[in-house]
Amino acid sequence: MRIGVDYYPEHWEKERWKTDAELMAKANIKVVRIGEFAWSLYQPEENRFCFEWMDEILDFFRDHQISVVLCTPSATPPKWMTDKYPDIFQDDIHGNPKIFGTRKHYCFNSKTYHAFTRELVTKIAERYGRHPAVEAWQIDNELGWANTTRCYCEKCRAEFQQWLKKKYGTIEELNRRYGTVFWSQIYNSFEEVIIPRAGACYDTCHDTQGQNPALLLDYYRFSSDSVIRFAKESAEIIRRYSDRPVTSNLLDAAVNSGTGIDYFKLSEQLDFVSWDNYIEFQWGIAQAATVSRDHALLRSYKKQPFWVMEQQSGPCGWSKMGPAPTPGKLRLWTYQAVANGADTVVYFRWRACPFGTEQYWHGILDHDGKPNRRYEEIAQVGSEMERLNRVFGTLKPQAKIAIVKSFDSEWSHSIHKHVENFQYDSFLLDFYRPFYQMGLSVDFVTPHDDISSYALVLAPALLIVTEEEKENLERYVRGGGTLLLTFRSGIRDEDNNMRKETVPGAFSELAGVRVKEYDPQFQKETGSSGVFGKAQSKLWCDVVEPVSAETLGVYTQDYYSGESCLTVNAFGKGTVYYLGCDLDGDAMNRLMKYLCTRHGLSPVTYPIEGVEQVEAQDGEHTALFVMNHNPYPAVVPLDRIYENALTNDEEKDTVTLKPYDVAVLIWKKSF
Ligand code: GAL
Repeated sequence: MRIGVDYYPEHWEKERWKTDAELMAKANIKVVRIGEFAWSLYQPEENRFCFEWMDEILDFFRDHQISVVLCTPSATPPKWMTDKYPDIFQDDIHGNPKIFGTRKHYCFNSKTYHAFTRELVTKIAERYGRHPAVEAWQIDNELGWANTTRCYCEKCRAEFQQWLKKKYGTIEELNRRYGTVFWSQIYNSFEEVIIPRAGACYDTCHDTQGQNPALLLDYYRFSSDSVIRFAKESAEIIRRYSDRPVTSNLLDAAVNSGTGIDYFKLSEQLDFVSWDNYIEFQWGIAQAATVSRDHALLRSYKKQPFWVMEQQSGPCGWSKMGPAPTPGKLRLWTYQAVANGADTVVYFRWRACPFGTEQYWHGILDHDGKPNRRYEEIAQVGSEMERLNRVFGTLKPQAKIAIVKSFDSEWSHSIHKHVENFQYDSFLLDFYRPFYQMGLSVDFVTPHDDISSYALVLAPALLIVTEEEKENLERYVRGGGTLLLTFRSGIRDEDNNMRKETVPGAFSELAGVRVKEYDPQFQKETGSSGVFGKAQSKLWCDVVEPVSAETLGVYTQDYYSGESCLTVNAFGKGTVYYLGCDLDGDAMNRLMKYLCTRHGLSPVTYPIEGVEQVEAQDGEHTALFVMNHNPYPAVVPLDRIYENALTNDEEKDTVTLKPYDVAVLIWKKSF
């Protein structure tokens, strides 16, 4: 557990570096991330490279015992390159090229851009691969940020056609699987295949574009693969010259729905994963449960500890700002990351920049560079981490519950989203939230992962499922596992076409039900009642007919009043629940509690609204992190005697937390 900062030494006079390093050392800041946007300094002209500036920076940090995450600067191609080689630009969905001036405007399939990136990454890795200050590498910056995964240029089209040829072999096979007989779309060769730019119907139905759904899904897969191939190329070059681990900074799930990279697959190319965590900023305010869910995702992509590579440290925005983090929040957000499995938290940024786009994006220090309230708070975190490191090894929450996340399903849901307000990621969050409130950690898994160690697996709206994935879930249940499926599961095939079996398609036998009909909740809602108490559905109602299953809930309204909405089925040694409708928050809480009780999962004894409780283990100790996200004090009852790792006090009966305060408690003994 340690902290770091994102630092831009090239933005400041050299004479200032020493002061910065001293202030960092005083705050126990151990690591800096540098260089992710510095291409024009490395290569001011096509055939001119400069490294002396970076030599000086790295030697400086070596001398000050601060380690460095060194980045590849491919997020910002320099001006001379865009002028001379305009083929490096992306085209947007209307086919218009992007322009120079911000960042991330390059195409992941531009051979020119690949060549320039390879050349520079090779030189950087060769020169610094074994530099004593360098402890890790970051590839690019936020791959796919700002809708840049999917490019619609002719270079991408040519590459896509190759990708399709490899996948389908013959054009007849592609025609068959795409159903191009619909609307006269039959192709005579791969060279004819289009990329799904905004088509003639875009203005009326731009959420789906009106393009062929099989083509769209393939294009999304291809685009994700293109980004991953780009990252892999840089990672492989680095590994030729350096034995230090490679990462890239990912984005949170809400943004990532638009980013369109399969993070499970991208993570295979990285040695560890990291992400950027902004909570209260120009573009919104994240709920504590949402942030916890994002940490859980990051913990899950590689099933190992992760970093926060950019953690908010001041008021943030470009043209306008979000609020100043209230005293205590920077510390609280850091503990939230650590409790949920982060081992390093790097604050963005060290000091607010007086020039450029991000003048309002504050760091720890304001523009004046003087220690302030936020600096003091982070220095407190730094010294507490030192203290905790003397007690704990690497702490990790031990989740017994998993939620299945499928990027194929996510993209398919985004192509045809069933009803106006359905959003896959927020639907998954609806299932995560009750466990968050009960203090039970949840991992995310793919449908093909080995899930045998989990007591409960939820696969909400698992729309697309392959034969192998279906067998994987069946194997899990047959062996004694407990699985929850919901409406809109198992009903599409790998080509993003609707299955012809009765709903829930691939899962009918497993769930022991057939869905007689369904009622999308368009400008209406429907009541139900069952083991979850009373509920309202605002998205969807499957009218479920139990075949081998039994009913646990029924509708109480509309023409299907009295029909089943929730069932349970015995399958092999295990149990399958089928939830045919969405539930409001309270009913969802009650249903998840019901599942916990039935399947041996013990929530924290005293869940309290707004207080996050996470249990983490290091192999020797169990720590209970208690985090008060409320703007008022919290008195949290305890069910055993603990030692407070931050104060060494014994805590029994209760622990009292100030607003946004945190306690880290070590299990001692039961009462
Ligand atoms: C992140 C990005 C940083 C910085 C920050 C503030 O998304 O990685 O480079 O731009 O946002 O806008």
